[in-house]
Order: sequence, then C-alpha cells, then structure tokens
Amino acid sequence: MKNPWEKINLSDYENHMRSGTVMQLQAMNQMMKGQCNAYPIHTVMILGVAGGNGLEHIPSGMEKVFGIDINPAYLTECAKRYPHLADILTCICADLTDETIALPHAELVVANLLIEYIGYRCFQDVIIKTDPLYVSCIIQINTDDGFVSDSPYIHAFDDLDEVLHPVQETELILAMKEVGYFQTAHKEQPLPNSKKLVQLDFERG
Ligand SMILES: C[S@@+](CC[C@H](N)C(=O)[O-])C[C@H]1O[C@@H](n2cnc3c(N)ncnc32)[C@H](O)[C@@H]1O
Repeated sequence: MKNPWEKINLSDYENHMRSGTVMQLQAMNQMMKGQCNAYPIHTVMILGVAGGNGLEHIPSGMEKVFGIDINPAYLTECAKRYPHLADILTCICADLTDETIALPHAELVVANLLIEYIGYRCFQDVIIKTDPLYVSCIIQINTDDGFVSDSPYIHAFDDLDEVLHPVQETELILAMKEVGYFQTAHKEQPLPNSKKLVQLDFERG
C-alpha cells in the first residue's frame, strides 16, 4: 500500500503550510536557519526534506547535505530549487519506516514534522543508523482538537490519519535517552489556531 505522502502534491502541501491560517512554512524556514547554523558540523541529514524549505540557510563550508524523503517528486523539485548546492546535496528516496534501509552517517540530523509520520521506534532506528553527534527536531503541539489546521487545501491531507503517530515532548525526550541522546535545547514558536512548534535539540552522550 502506498504511503499517503506519496499522493500529496508538493504545491498543495506548501500552499497549505504557507497559508495565513497555518504559517508553518515561514516559521520552519526561520527555525531551519537556526538549526543549520547552531553546531560546528560539516555534514547534515534532513529527514522528510520535502521541497527543501530552509535549505537556503545551509552555511558555506558545509561539505555534505543529505535530503531524505519518501516522495520522489518532492526530491526532484528540491534538487531543482537549489542548483548552488548541487555539489554537496544528495537526495535519497527512502521510506524511513523500512527497517532494511541503509543510511549514511551525518553529524547533524534534522527532523522537522517528521516523527509524527514514522513514530518513535522508527525514529530511534534511523538515529542509530545515522549515528549523528547532534539531533534537532521540530514537533507540532496542539492545544485544540485537529492536527492539521484548516486551509483551502486541507482535503489533500485526508489520508494522513493512516500514518499519524501522536508525539509528545516528554516521550520524545525519553525515546532519545533510550538511544543515548540528551536534550540540550528547547525553543517554541507560537502559530495561529492554538498550535505551536517546539524545537528540541539533543546531543549524543
Ligand atoms: C510535514 S512534512 C515536513 C516537511 C519539511 N520538513 C518542512 O519543513 O516543510 C513531512 C515530510 O516527511 C516525508 N515523510 C513522511 N513519511 C515518511 C517516511 N515514512 N519516509 C520518508 N519520508 C517521509 C513526507 O513526504 C514529507 O515531505
């Protein structure tokens, strides 16, 4: 069975995320700037990279950027958007819930609104395989009922319930501790519609 993310058009996803009632594309773009520049690293892996929102903030001196996503059309567009990164950007089409996949090492793993679609167990497996020094995650916290905010594009996301894993800050911190990572930073970004983005950073102990 196809993962529902393989059926969502990138333009529907991005138009939803940038709409006035959601504003997450803009918020995550600025948060990516902080994530990519916070650590003394030369290699980074972006899990669930989609169209590459925020890749313009990759600092000079970065030697390797891995963009991972399950949707091949997202990766084609991502590579097209950042021709200046062509020498260092490798896009890998992979299902991160597939236990048999191999992943390269990166010093920093960034996972923004991704753990919600693969769950803690698969995320732990990915971290073990990639063996980064640093991990920076953004999760969405709801203070109302719906996970997906309303917008004219909302029906593009109807099937996502099939793969949705609720994520909580305390549980994620525990899951990371189980695989040897300790929380080092916590940032919050308020959003419209009683939601907020929470960034949690971790370092290998
Ligand atoms: C909510 S989007 C987040 C996109 C991006 N991080 C951003 O800042 O806009 C989730 C992304 O994860 C990808 N994804 C979801 N499940 C996945 C899986 N099992 N394996 C790989 N990628 C997956 C989706 O295709 C999508 O691009």
